[in-house]
Amino acid sequence: MNDINRQFLLAARPSGMVKESDFEYRASPVPEIGDGEVLIRTSHISLDPSMRGQMENRADYVAPLQIGDVMRAGCVGTIVASRNPDFPEGIQVGGTFGMQDYCVSDGRNVPFRVFDADIDPTTALGVLGGTGMTAYFGLLEIGEPKPGDTVVISGAAGATGSVAGQIAKIHGCTVIGMAGSDEKCAWLTDELGFDASINYKTQDIGAELDRLCPNGINIYFDNVGGEILDLCLERIAMNARVVICGGISRYNATGPIPGPKNYFNLVFRRARMEGFIVLDYADRFPEASAVMQRWIDEGKLKQQATVIDGFRELPKALIRLFEGYNTGKLMVKTS
Ligand SMILES: NC(=O)c1ccc[n+]([C@@H]2O[C@H](COP(=O)([O-])OP(=O)(O)OC[C@H]3O[C@@H](n4cnc5c(N)ncnc54)[C@H](OP(=O)(O)O)[C@@H]3O)[C@@H](O)[C@H]2O)c1
Repeated sequence: MNDINRQFLLAARPSGMVKESDFEYRASPVPEIGDGEVLIRTSHISLDPSMRGQMENRADYVAPLQIGDVMRAGCVGTIVASRNPDFPEGIQVGGTFGMQDYCVSDGRNVPFRVFDADIDPTTALGVLGGTGMTAYFGLLEIGEPKPGDTVVISGAAGATGSVAGQIAKIHGCTVIGMAGSDEKCAWLTDELGFDASINYKTQDIGAELDRLCPNGINIYFDNVGGEILDLCLERIAMNARVVICGGISRYNATGPIPGPKNYFNLVFRRARMEGFIVLDYADRFPEASAVMQRWIDEGKLKQQATVIDGFRELPKALIRLFEGYNTGKLMVKTS
């Protein structure tokens, strides 16, 4: 066990692209636990686009983050000390433990999920973690896929998009993914079984969508917003579902963000555009995990993690997320 608790605090509210100087490193004492509490040692810390909004207090679905607070982050770790008989030492747990080595919980103030010891931490934080749950509920509950649907996914080679696309394939859809490099696009089609991919940085997105979706788009699973959302709205089919999962193209933007120009197609095509927050499905995570684990075991759902080694890399890792460094789930291994 470390004798210090390494932490990253919010040092400044970012303007434009998040910077390393927006974080402050601190070495604190390892916290003591009281009756009913456990001490969790984090092993893997997740990097999520939503952290950017939380640093600025733009994410209104969670409590505000103040300057000097420990950066909020999803983690997987192990209970290394316990004064709670329900949660003995050695259990693997996942939750929002923050950018730090140690976190104290009584099971309610910092809720956690218990993962079997044989589940790899990268799976617990990836496919069975927040982004996997986001893909599952966003696609199935909001997207309502039907066999034969044409599904377009942006941010498709990332943690959420890569899983959403595979779930759409499992449900008999034709799936087209957009990603920012030829390597990522090849991974989508060659490894994950997507039907086609578009490199949104080098190809004519509109022309490719016209070619690949001759009958229009039944489901657009949007992770990026901006111009790509507009190009997809222009091509939605009758009764389409536009799933607003995220809008990463706007997270580091400065100044006013233009709205979608083609939203009125929602009227002409009797379509639906709906946002969601995965936390609203928290009581159904065990159900989704069981289904996803079965798909993994059956070889229907492949997972990939980009793991950066070293606690001190956390700020740089968040910047890299916005630069497209990751394929699949981005995380830092801290111990
Ligand atoms: N609604 C919810 O409850 C919920 C929960 C979790 C996540 N989300 C959202 O889901 C989306 C994906 O999150 P994630 O954690 O899975 O991240 P991720 O997709 O694993 O990583 C982000 C990826 O976005 C791409 N990207 C970065 N800037 C971009 C831009 N300007 N335009 C297009 N693509 C860009 C990069 O890949 P390329 O190389 O392809 O550019 C990067 O790898 C985010 O918008 C996030 O906010 C929503």
